[in-house]
Order: sequence, then structure tokens, then C-alpha cells
Amino acid sequence: MPDDDQSLSEQRAQGATLVHAPPQPLTLRINGAEHHLTIEPRVTLLDALREVLGLTGTKKGCDRGQCGACTVLVDGQRINSCLTLAMMHDGREITTVEGLGEQGQPHPIQQAFMDCDGFQCGYCTPGQVCSAVALLDEVKARQASMLTEGDQLAPGALSEDEIRERMSGNLCRCGAYPNIVKAIHSVVLRQA
Ligand code: FES
Ligand code: FES
Repeated sequence: MPDDDQSLSEQRAQGATLVHAPPQPLTLRINGAEHHLTIEPRVTLLDALREVLGLTGTKKGCDRGQCGACTVLVDGQRINSCLTLAMMHDGREITTVEGLGEQGQPHPIQQAFMDCDGFQCGYCTPGQVCSAVALLDEVKARQASMLTEGDQLAPGALSEDEIRERMSGNLCRCGAYPNIVKAIHSVVLRQA
């Protein structure tokens, strides 16, 4: 089967007209506010946040689902915003790092990152923080990870290895992992 580039050149050689889908209206609900946009269907959620709405707290690392820098919450669940189209989230509740804390009153996870020195460059931190916030809800719901024995996480059974496994989609190239794990564990223990 020819790859996409080959198909494209073949289409061009045959004089085919490339069709671009026209911009479409959509409503993104982000951090409690509604944004009415008209954008091309091919725009990713990450680009809509950063380039269209100026919400640059969410970072673009790899742009291909490998680093977790672009993690945001959609209806409370963490996703890589570089791997999904904005159009797919019309009307859903999106939370970015800008929506997690209040001025002067950070989210407990944000405070723990500061207390435990859980970041260095800060580039991956918004994604780490969003991911950790979703992790708290997953733990409350006793969702299992790859490491959990059985179908559900037992109350109080979130080990540091479990945190590492659950945060494994978020990379930190400067190696702040021990402090990130410590920060998340401190919040989990306080909320237990
Ligand atoms: S930018 Fe989305 S996972 Fe790396
Ligand atoms: S603190 Fe961002 S890559 Fe390490």
C-alpha cells in the first residue's frame, strides 16, 4: 500500500484537485469560559489552545503523543491535546493548567510541586500538573494501572511505583522525576 506522501504525489501527477475543508464553527468550553471559534477541522486541540486562544500554558513538546507536555483535562480525563482535533471537543469541559488554581491560591498539586521542587525547566510542568490532577481522581475512583494487582486499586495502596507507572506518559528531560513523584505522593497521602 502506498504511503500518504506517495498517494499525494500520485494525485498531483494525475492533476487531482486537493480539497480543503472550510473552517467550521465550534464552541470550546475552557476553564469555565465559552469560546466561539471558526476554525479548520484539521486544527488540533493543542494548536487551538495555543495559537488561536493564546492559552500558552499548555506546551508543545513532540507534537506526536510521546512527551505529555500538551496534557489537558477533557471532562476530567487527561488527554494529549496534540493528538486530538479541536472539533472533536465541541461543548466539552476542557481544563488547562491556567484553570487549575486561583491567583494566590494554587491547586494542591501545584503547591506540592513548589514545596517539593518538582520542576526545573518548567516546560513539562503544565502537562505533569494536569496529569497529576487527573491521577488524583483516578485514585479516588480506585482505577487500576498496569501495576495494580486485581481490577481495582485498594484504598491507601498507591505506592511510588504506582505513581511512576501512572505518570509514565509525561516525560521530563532534566530528570526531576524523584521530586515529581514525591510531590504527587504528598498530596495523595494528605487526601487519603
Ligand atoms: S506535545 Fe503532545 S505528547 Fe508531546
Ligand atoms: S522540568 Fe521540564 S523537562 Fe524537566
